[in-house]
Amino acid sequence: MKLLIATRNRHKFGEFIDLLGLPPEAVACAADRSDLPEVEEDGQTFAANAIHKAITWATVTRTWVLADDSGLAVRALNDAPGVFSARFAGPNATDADNNRRLLELMNGVTDRRACFKCALALVAPSGDLRVIEGTCPGILLDQPRGIQGFGYDPLFVPDGFEQTFAEIEGASKNRISHRARALQALRSTWPECLRGF
Ligand code: IMP
Repeated sequence: MKLLIATRNRHKFGEFIDLLGLPPEAVACAADRSDLPEVEEDGQTFAANAIHKAITWATVTRTWVLADDSGLAVRALNDAPGVFSARFAGPNATDADNNRRLLELMNGVTDRRACFKCALALVAPSGDLRVIEGTCPGILLDQPRGIQGFGYDPLFVPDGFEQTFAEIEGASKNRISHRARALQALRSTWPECLRGF
């Protein structure tokens, strides 16, 4: 393993595998590592959470670590759920619970604008750290559509599309998503990162 993807979310991990184009044997998912300490995602910003996770796990693994913290910011809800996206409906909420809560709060709201946000923190074995953000604007539907992806994907139609993230092909999501845009920005500001895999 040369790169640890600092997520236990298999869907996110799968998206990173497709986005990075690295050999599978070079990349590990945090869900497969029992030696990693729990990291509380209690920061006020996506970037704070991503940095905390990346540095904590880089200290343990001494490899490249790529951490992502992401979520949905809804204009009419003052950018909620934001950093609480994963636990919007409570500490053990499922994606379906979170989507239901969001739809309840958005019932009758005409301003449906929302934006997915992603902060990436990449730590090199040398200790170098870069943090960068990517966004993907769109609108929220009033009922879920599609079965692909995860999280709020069935409710979110990205700008320029008519289908939700849960309906479009993974390859299309990976061209325009907040995660894809953050990774593109990271690579353009740090071209030599993740080299030699
Ligand atoms: P994290 O694992 O703490 O970063 O939680 C991110 C949460 O934000 C997820 O549980 C989802 O609810 C939501 N989220 C982040 N990225 C996406 C995405 O690409 N699609 C749908 N939901 C997402």
